[in-house]
Amino acid sequence: MLNKDFTVTPWYVEGAIDYNKLIKQFGTERISENILYRLEKITGDIHFMLKRGIFFSHRDLHKILDVYEQNNKFFVYTGRGPSGNTHIGHLIPWILTKWIQDKFNTNVYFQLSDDEKFFANKNITLSTTSRFAYENAIDFIALGFKPNNTKIIINTKNINNLYPLTCQIAKKINLSNVKAVFGFTNDTNIGMIFYTALQSAPCFIENKPVLIPLGIDQDPHFRITRDIAPKIGKIKPAIIHGMMMPSLLGINSKMSTSQKNSVIYTTDSPNIVKNKINKYAFSGGQSDIKMHRKKGGDPSVDIAYQYMHMFFEPDDKKLKKIHDDYISGRLLTGELKSMTITKINEFLEKHQHRRDEAVKHIDEYVLQ
Ligand code: TYM
Repeated sequence: MLNKDFTVTPWYVEGAIDYNKLIKQFGTERISENILYRLEKITGDIHFMLKRGIFFSHRDLHKILDVYEQNNKFFVYTGRGPSGNTHIGHLIPWILTKWIQDKFNTNVYFQLSDDEKFFANKNITLSTTSRFAYENAIDFIALGFKPNNTKIIINTKNINNLYPLTCQIAKKINLSNVKAVFGFTNDTNIGMIFYTALQSAPCFIENKPVLIPLGIDQDPHFRITRDIAPKIGKIKPAIIHGMMMPSLLGINSKMSTSQKNSVIYTTDSPNIVKNKINKYAFSGGQSDIKMHRKKGGDPSVDIAYQYMHMFFEPDDKKLKKIHDDYISGRLLTGELKSMTITKINEFLEKHQHRRDEAVKHIDEYVLQ
């Protein structure tokens, strides 16, 4: 997946991602007006993350819509590699997952790959990743999923549920496949080499078509899954790809648990959010107020604006006003940051209450 301007792999994202190039590089399809029209016809509304192109690309989404229109069922699968606390970028695919579940009345499976993060990271123990699995599960549940139609799979705990499927898959993936897709070398541990089979297994946990909402960095795993699906008599998983929420430090890197000052965690207090945005959020504004009033700001690189656009201001009219005021210089960087801080803290206050409730119910969700 190497490109001279940017790199996108499941374990490494760097540079300013050109999503048009990525569609070509990965061989996916842009979400067309026609697909949006079909989605709107079925659901009666379009989630703002779809309307704004935050979810911009797919594989076989039209086939999932065909399945639904023919009165057949599909299910939804997504996940998290528990290497640390949940940040607000992780929530993006999960929020769309919830929307799809509500609109299409589907079952949802959520995989916590504590094994993967142990294999991928030299400095983390398995007990740490397993602890973060529970911590991350709380955020997922807090988004409103219900235990009657949502199951959480923790890889090290639920391996008995996954292993027969994993074996079917692993037998069809050879070393050169994973080398070609992930660039593995002789130094790569065999846990990593095997891991794609585990991330693929939940695609076939029900004998129905599956739709996977995810950040586009996870697509390479499922490219392999899609290649082998027909070889084991299964339907290729369909995918809907989201953009990566940028780091606080700027649009040239993604928000990532491994970079402390780049992240807003779901557990951050209002004061911490305020300090992080004020101190670190890259500004598209001018160097002083006089210049800003004259020249205006650039929302396309302004992190506070980007967070409003991707997540925290669902109202199109309000967002347009912020955009236009910023460009014209009427809205100052400090004012935009302060609006964004308020919005993030409003969201997090509710989310943290729901986390307190969710923590009591995790066992009801974990696959038995
Ligand atoms: P992980 O833990 O890296 O990320 C979890 C989900 O969040 C997405 N994501 C982001 N989305 C927007 N902005 C960001 N800055 C950002 N960072 C991460 C990821 O694309 C992902 O959808 N191997 C997986 C765990 C996994 C999984 C799955 C993910 C297991 N099964 C099925 C998707 C679907 C991982 O490490 O994700």
